[in-house]
Amino acid sequence: MKETAWKSPSNIALIKYWGKYDVQIPANPSISFTLSTAATSTRLKYAKGKGAIKVFLNDTETPSFMPKIQSFLERTDNLFPFAQEMDFEVHTSNSFPHSSGIASSASGMSALALCMMSIKKDLGLSIDDFFQEASNASRLGSGSGSRSVYGPLAAWGKHAEIEGSHDEFAVPFVDVADVFKTFQDTILLIDKGEKTVSSSLGHGLMTGHPYASSRFAQAHENQSKLLTAMLDADLERFGAIVESEALTLHGMMMTSMPYFILMKPNTLEVINRIWAFREATKNPVYFTLDAGANVHVLYPESHKEVIMRFIDTELRTFCKDSSYLCDHVGSGPIQL
Ligand code: DP6
Repeated sequence: MKETAWKSPSNIALIKYWGKYDVQIPANPSISFTLSTAATSTRLKYAKGKGAIKVFLNDTETPSFMPKIQSFLERTDNLFPFAQEMDFEVHTSNSFPHSSGIASSASGMSALALCMMSIKKDLGLSIDDFFQEASNASRLGSGSGSRSVYGPLAAWGKHAEIEGSHDEFAVPFVDVADVFKTFQDTILLIDKGEKTVSSSLGHGLMTGHPYASSRFAQAHENQSKLLTAMLDADLERFGAIVESEALTLHGMMMTSMPYFILMKPNTLEVINRIWAFREATKNPVYFTLDAGANVHVLYPESHKEVIMRFIDTELRTFCKDSSYLCDHVGSGPIQL
């Protein structure tokens, strides 16, 4: 068998993608920090065959990953027509523990999409823009995965102020003050269990949601405000928009029908501590949430020492097994 391998990072949305249309078209634009440490490495082995697939996570065959991979290959059939005449072995591993509650879909799907693009290139098939096509393919596997192929930030979904922005792929975004290019993200692992409601299900509940249309309009506005704040290095404005986006995401979950809550009591404890610490010390430390209980603590690199001390003394106690992951803004995937 021949092989190709990529390491692709996770990302954390600042403006949240929540709600989509068929197939994998976002209901609103989103923008994210590309992470660095949290990543998936995927080695894709391939040979002429009849579409047989085997998936291994950390060297152990993991058939539970098959449905997502099969649906990825079906949806990307016109991008990778050669896949039907090949057998594949997907060997994948994450830099973070599987049980950490950190979603591996964005990093996993983008790593796989990049491997498929490398095969396409090796076969000499025509490619206009390697990373744009990889982003498009990643999106078909997992919407947020479209944003993992570029650093330091990536924007997905048409937005009036981002030139070239598109619903089918993400674009790299660099028009931000330098402080945001080295921003830190310490991920507090509040709850390590499997999510009770999957993102796919959650997105679906935005169809017919009573606040959907105003939420989608708000995301456009918030993205405009965020772009200005990031260009102006206005940390306070940045923090206010990012925190509001996180709480709005969870507000949408709580007002869906059926309704659900993914935050845990310790998620709220941590948020309150961050607010109190910020108020008392005026340090620029903010939070965001993904579709789970974990808290992403965001702050400039220049404040690393003081914020890490705060995390260790005040926040760590609210984490499962006192655990957190230190990450920061990164530059995107690398070919292995
Ligand atoms: C809350 O990209 O995981 O993290 O497209 O169904 O795979 P699918 O959903 P997914 O949703 C991510 C939702 C989010 C917000 C975000 O990353 O923008």
